[in-house]
Amino acid sequence: MGYDGTVQLHSAQLQDLLTRPAQVVYKDDHRTAVYAVEAADGHVWVVKRFRHPQWLQALKWAVRAHPAQRETRRVRQLKALRLPVTPIVATTMRWSATGGVGYCVLPYMGESVYRLLNRNLLTAPAQRRALAQKLADLTAGLIRHGLIHADYKTSNILLNERGELWLIDTDRVAASRDRQRILNMLATLDETAVRARVSRTERWRFLKALLQQVELGDVRQIVAIITRGSEAKRLVTNVAGGHAQPTATTPQRGPVTTDQAPARV
Ligand SMILES: Nc1ncnc2c1ncn2[C@@H]1O[C@H](COP(=O)(O)OP(=O)(O)O)[C@@H](O)[C@H]1O
Ligand SMILES: [Mg+2]
Repeated sequence: MGYDGTVQLHSAQLQDLLTRPAQVVYKDDHRTAVYAVEAADGHVWVVKRFRHPQWLQALKWAVRAHPAQRETRRVRQLKALRLPVTPIVATTMRWSATGGVGYCVLPYMGESVYRLLNRNLLTAPAQRRALAQKLADLTAGLIRHGLIHADYKTSNILLNERGELWLIDTDRVAASRDRQRILNMLATLDETAVRARVSRTERWRFLKALLQQVELGDVRQIVAIITRGSEAKRLVTNVAGGHAQPTATTPQRGPVTTDQAPARV
C-alpha cells in the first residue's frame, strides 16, 4: 500500500506498533535495527530502532542530540525545500531504568535502490534508463540547493511502484557547495552502484545526465575522482571516444553558481 501523505499515527497506535513483530528486517547492526511492521489497519510502517547504549541515548535525548531527533529535524528542513525526503511520522523514546531506546517511524515508501539492483529486481532496460535519469535529477536537485549528502548511497534512496525516488537516512546532509565534497558524494554513490553490479555504461549514463544539469568542471577529472582512479582510464576512453558531451558544450539547465548561498540545513 502506498503512503498518501495524510495518514498519521496516534499515541496508542504508536505504542502498539512498537510491540509488533517485524515482517521484514532491512538491517540490524550495532547502530540500528530497521524493519517493516504491519499495523492492525493494514498500513505498513518502517521502524528504525537505535541501538547505542541506553544511558547514552537518554543523555543525547535530553539535549536534543539523539540521532532520531537529528534525523527528524533534517527531514523537516529538506521537506521545506521540497526535496523528496521520506517523512518521519513519529520520533519517540522508550524509557527504562538504565536509560532509553529511541525510535523513528516512517511510512513504507518502496524498496531501496541498492536492494533492487543487487537482487536483480530491476532488469528492464527502459526502467534502468529511467532510474539513471531520476537519480541524476535528484542529485542535481541537491547540488542546486547547495546540499551534499555525506551518506549518499543507493541503500539510502528508495524507489516506489510509481517510479518515484525518496531519500532516507538524511542525518548527514549538510550545506556545502564545495566541489570536492560534491565529488565525494558522487564517489560514495558510485561505489555502492558498483557493489550493486551496475555496469560502467549505466553509471556513465547517470553521470552524463547529471552533468547536463550542473556544471562541475573537467569531466576527466570528475571521473577520476568519482571512481577514485580505479576506472578512470576506461571511462575516460568512453569520453574521448565521443560518448561524452564535454561540459563546455553541454546545455546547462541549472548551473551551480558559487555566489549563491547554500540552503540552510
Ligand atoms: N521508509 C522506508 N520505506 C522502506 N524501506 C525503508 C524505509 N526506511 C528504511 N528502509 C530500509 O531500511 C534500510 C536501512 O534504513 P536506514 O534509515 O538507511 O538505516 P541506517 O541509518 O542504519 O543506514 C534502508 O536501506 C531501506 O532498505
Ligand atoms: Mg542507511
